[in-house]
Amino acid sequence: MVEPRIEQYAEAQTSEESALLAQVAADTRDFVADAFMMSGSTQGQFLACLVHLGQPRNILEIGTFTGYSALAMAEAMPGDGRITTCEIDPDTARIAAQHFASSPRGQQIDLRVGPALPVVDELPGPFDLVFIDAEKSGYSSYFEAVVPKLAPHGLIVVDNTLHGGLDPQDDEDQVNMLAVHAFNATVRRDRRVEQIVLTVRDGISLIRLKAQP
Ligand SMILES: C[S@@+](CC[C@H](N)C(=O)[O-])C[C@H]1O[C@@H](n2cnc3c(N)ncnc32)[C@H](O)[C@@H]1O
Repeated sequence: MVEPRIEQYAEAQTSEESALLAQVAADTRDFVADAFMMSGSTQGQFLACLVHLGQPRNILEIGTFTGYSALAMAEAMPGDGRITTCEIDPDTARIAAQHFASSPRGQQIDLRVGPALPVVDELPGPFDLVFIDAEKSGYSSYFEAVVPKLAPHGLIVVDNTLHGGLDPQDDEDQVNMLAVHAFNATVRRDRRVEQIVLTVRDGISLIRLKAQP
């Protein structure tokens, strides 16, 4: 989405990630297929900043991968905070579990292996922060499942909401692109919430409950 030189500049000027996050990123790039799925340091710092500002105690993540984003949030969360993070792929989850074990905040991360939706259904909430970063076709279901369980000042952060840009002809992954665009439009029309679509990386949306008059 962003010109590579500008992306590199933004990353270079963004504060450095922790030594543990740098190690997780390096391990993921070296040993895991599809490492591009990992949040980069700029996005990790963005999530950490939101956590630092909002001090969420109950965080839900949908899509753990190797644990980078969960750890970035864990480093910034309050001492009594907890993250529940869901990963469908057991091999990837095993790698994430190793990364969590290396963190002083690892005990505060509850890794659930399996499809996310049943986990979300069983959790009571209220969630102070939700990070949705799994398969694009599931975005609408995740959104519908978490909105009723969002704390009044809670925030939903959704990754890749400009997935593939705007022209389906140019996108190898048309199905996903159309799914996120349909999701964006549905949320935009939803009277319960307010949405901002940010042009960070390939799009990050911030969604909150509409203030009650
Ligand atoms: C983009 S990656 C997540 C990246 C991670 N949040 C980070 O920033 O490093 C998406 C992950 O979601 C997982 N996933 C896909 N469908 C899922 C589902 N239904 N339930 C739970 N996890 C799912 C994939 O296996 C993959 O590891």
